[in-house]
Amino acid sequence: MLAGGAGTRLFPLSRVSSKQLQPVYDKPMIYYPLATLMSAGIREIHLITTPNDLPAFREALGDGRQWGVELSYGVQPAPGGIAQAVVIGESFIGDEPFTLVLGDNIFHGPIGLDDEVATFDRGAVIWGYPVDDPQRYGVIEIDQAGAVLSIEEKPDHPRSDLAVPGLYVYDGTAVSRAKDLQPSARGELEITDLNLSFLNDGELRAVKLGRDITWLDSGTHESLLDSSNFIAAIEKRQGLKVACLEEVAFHMGFVSAREIAQTIETMPGSPYRTYCERSILG
Ligand code: G1P
Repeated sequence: MLAGGAGTRLFPLSRVSSKQLQPVYDKPMIYYPLATLMSAGIREIHLITTPNDLPAFREALGDGRQWGVELSYGVQPAPGGIAQAVVIGESFIGDEPFTLVLGDNIFHGPIGLDDEVATFDRGAVIWGYPVDDPQRYGVIEIDQAGAVLSIEEKPDHPRSDLAVPGLYVYDGTAVSRAKDLQPSARGELEITDLNLSFLNDGELRAVKLGRDITWLDSGTHESLLDSSNFIAAIEKRQGLKVACLEEVAFHMGFVSAREIAQTIETMPGSPYRTYCERSILG
């Protein structure tokens, strides 16, 4: 999981905390991608952040034990691109398949990560999501059968409206491929170049997400507010929380009722605690 970057577009909020610790309605942003991983059954998580923000992440998330996951930390000294996280994570990854998620990407709905992780064999899997402004993202073109024809980073003239969300599943070859990449014009190791390396070897697959899924990124004041409003609307309507990590951990069987009760006991009196008591302990 990558939670790097200077978050400069969020200034002056970025003076207070890392982008990925900013609130999205009632939780820190990072809770949402964490819930995405945990809901897919992923329990070993390596969070890569800046040297400056590392202490705050440790303080907020600890070692993950409270959610039945193993959370370890790595550091990206300067913004060197998303693919650099794969190089930084080398010792965590070893040569095993892994999932990379960006700390500012919020998914809601059945994206199928659990199935992809369970059946993953080799190569790389990415997703494609229709957006109104594809030129802001990595963009894929796929054929009728779902094979990837092209992938481009922030193209001026996108060949489709399918943006590539910040969620990727790779086999262990990703590490050596990432090491071989050259920095782009913006001086970063581009995740799109890593995906291109898999595409050139016929090893890239894309899953098209439909309109039943919501994918949000939250890197500007506007999108941060949109994300908060979206989560607030669903939570108020359903009386259920999105990305309540205690609830996810319990439902996934990562922690027992007794363990989660102990965790809840450490929470200050708050609507979040009341929700956990009601939804988990009954
Ligand atoms: C990055 C990637 C891009 C991807 C996006 C998803 O963009 O480079 O391919 O579509 O994340 O959030 P950036 O955040 O660097 O603008």
